[in-house]
Amino acid sequence: MQNFDYQTPTRLIFGKGVVSKLPEVMAQFGKIVLLTYGGGSIKKIGLYQKVLELLKGYEIVELSGIQPNPKYNPSVLEGVRLCKEHKVDVILSVGGGSVLDCSKAIAAGACYDGDPWDLISYKVKAQAALPIVDIITLAATGSEYDCGGVISRTETNDKIGYIDEHLFPAVSFLDPTYTFSVSRKQTAAGIADAMNHTMEQYFVEDATLLNDGFCESMLRSLMVNGRKCLENPEDYTARAEMMLACTYGCNGILALGNSESGWPCHGIEHALSAYYDITHGEGLAIITPRWMQHILSERTLPRFVKYGINVFGIDSSLPEWEIAEKAIDETYKFFQRIGIPMHLREVGIDDSRISEMAHHIAVNEGLEDAYAPLTEKDIVEILTASL
Ligand code: NZQ
Ligand code: ZN
Repeated sequence: MQNFDYQTPTRLIFGKGVVSKLPEVMAQFGKIVLLTYGGGSIKKIGLYQKVLELLKGYEIVELSGIQPNPKYNPSVLEGVRLCKEHKVDVILSVGGGSVLDCSKAIAAGACYDGDPWDLISYKVKAQAALPIVDIITLAATGSEYDCGGVISRTETNDKIGYIDEHLFPAVSFLDPTYTFSVSRKQTAAGIADAMNHTMEQYFVEDATLLNDGFCESMLRSLMVNGRKCLENPEDYTARAEMMLACTYGCNGILALGNSESGWPCHGIEHALSAYYDITHGEGLAIITPRWMQHILSERTLPRFVKYGINVFGIDSSLPEWEIAEKAIDETYKFFQRIGIPMHLREVGIDDSRISEMAHHIAVNEGLEDAYAPLTEKDIVEILTASL
């Protein structure tokens, strides 16, 4: 087991109706609030109006229109400008992972005098950030419980996972009823995203029985409850368990003491989203089985065998290579069954920019240090197999 130094300072407030605690929670941070949200889903579900009612007496400054794969320009820059101009005390993010990720970059940028890109690109280390409170409305990223935010800069085709300990939300509200309205497409993408977060931490050299069990249980829970959410979007129990599982995804708790994985599928997918603005979870679902097939070898075989038996219940008496191949096939079929398009061409990506993307990934994502190291050539092969 590897050494670690771990802390998650975020307070989680979970369950039906918990948003009523918002005034009490916000009071500790000040009176001037930057309210961030996306394209309008929070208005359709009545959450926007509810928040304004609960925050009567606060000065609310709004930043709306934050897009999926949130953009540095204009959203982050505009948010930073608003925070400085209005001397904002706290950011309240209401929406999915994109709104929250954007809010995190704004929180850091608001406490920095230079160009916020210096922080996101790791040229300068943040010294502080505004406090962030969020009401998460989509179960997927785990951003509500981690200190990362993923920001896209269109003109350079960059999509950077910006991680800094100042970016943990102070408080996250998780009310599963707000996820009832999430579309089939986004629900399926959320399942795939959270499953891949788990797999990225499961396929490592040095793991423990404890973490393996946690990851395998996460994957089974996400598959069972994810399908229930798709069958009946208002199944509270399924939405609730899916929401909690997604929350565990990225804050490191699944991998305490494990060796590094390199998060290869995320490294590859972030380039797909950066170049083509596709839905993150769909890109991951397409890449994952092809990546698995690519890295299956004598060395990685035991992990795939364990995964196949404990996650999909494949007969342990079968030959090991057969179990591994079946496990990869089951992974593909699960994503296909929940309605995810399983080819890059189906999400508008052809072979014209594969070498350019593979080069960008190889230079920026450090995948030569992954559990199964990937060179630029490997990345080309994975992307080509995903077409
Ligand atoms: O913009 P609005 O109108 O709110 O609509 C959103 C958006 O169109 C909609 N939506 C959200 N909640 C809804 C809803 N529709 C109906 N009912 C609701 N309750 O869903 C669409 C997608 O929203 P988005 O926030 O983009 O989805 P998600 O939460 O999956 O976030 C994806 C982003 O997070 C990044 C991804 O790369 C991507 O940019 N990630 C962030 C991570 C992190 N911070 O730890 C880790 C992940 O690996 C991931 O990379
Ligand atoms: Zn992800």
